[in-house]
Amino acid sequence: MKIFLDTANLEEIKTAADWGIIDGVTTNPTLVAREGVPFHERVKEICEVVKGPVSAEVTALDYQGMVKEARELAKLSEYVVVKIPMTPDGIKAVKKLSGEGIKTNVTLIFSPSQALLAMKAGATYISPFVGRLDDISNEGMKIVEEILQIIYNYDFDTEVIVASVRHPMHIVEAALLGAHIVTTPFKSLQALFRHPLTDIGIERFMNDWKKYKEQF
Ligand code: E4P
Repeated sequence: MKIFLDTANLEEIKTAADWGIIDGVTTNPTLVAREGVPFHERVKEICEVVKGPVSAEVTALDYQGMVKEARELAKLSEYVVVKIPMTPDGIKAVKKLSGEGIKTNVTLIFSPSQALLAMKAGATYISPFVGRLDDISNEGMKIVEEILQIIYNYDFDTEVIVASVRHPMHIVEAALLGAHIVTTPFKSLQALFRHPLTDIGIERFMNDWKKYKEQF
């Protein structure tokens, strides 16, 4: 499973890239706004660090506007993936852009029916938002399971990015289901490392090693 980082924060991206375990990055208007930096410049900076797929979202909501913004974003770097919202205009734009060889990530997917439309339009990636579904007492991972089944039934090329991750178990569950990709906030990625028995184990080994060394 590929791991993308869900952030526009360059320090987090550099740290995770340094660990050698991230394959790409996803951003959205909220994440970019949080950084307070010029959008296009930040997208270029992220692409230079990651050298893998970097999702940058259009903010136009009409077909013409989305296609125009998408073409501009795609020119920033070969790694740019244009994020398009799941609407009729968005799906029409995805069809057009996939015909032009521009990679797309259909965002705000909350049902298998929406996923099916995005895949039919030729989306490179689709992003089901599991955390936001869990937040309203739905089972986010259930739609991931159903979307993956549709992909296998019809051999769609689209890859599933499990998005809106809230905790490390979302990442583990995505892997157990065989999702292609998970995009995670830095906090949940860090949490994957931790186990109290690892810390206790290291401390015990170091204490025993110190006692052993004192004999010589
Ligand atoms: C990623 O593509 C999404 O924009 C992101 O995961 C949304 O996460 P949120 O529901 O925590 O805002």
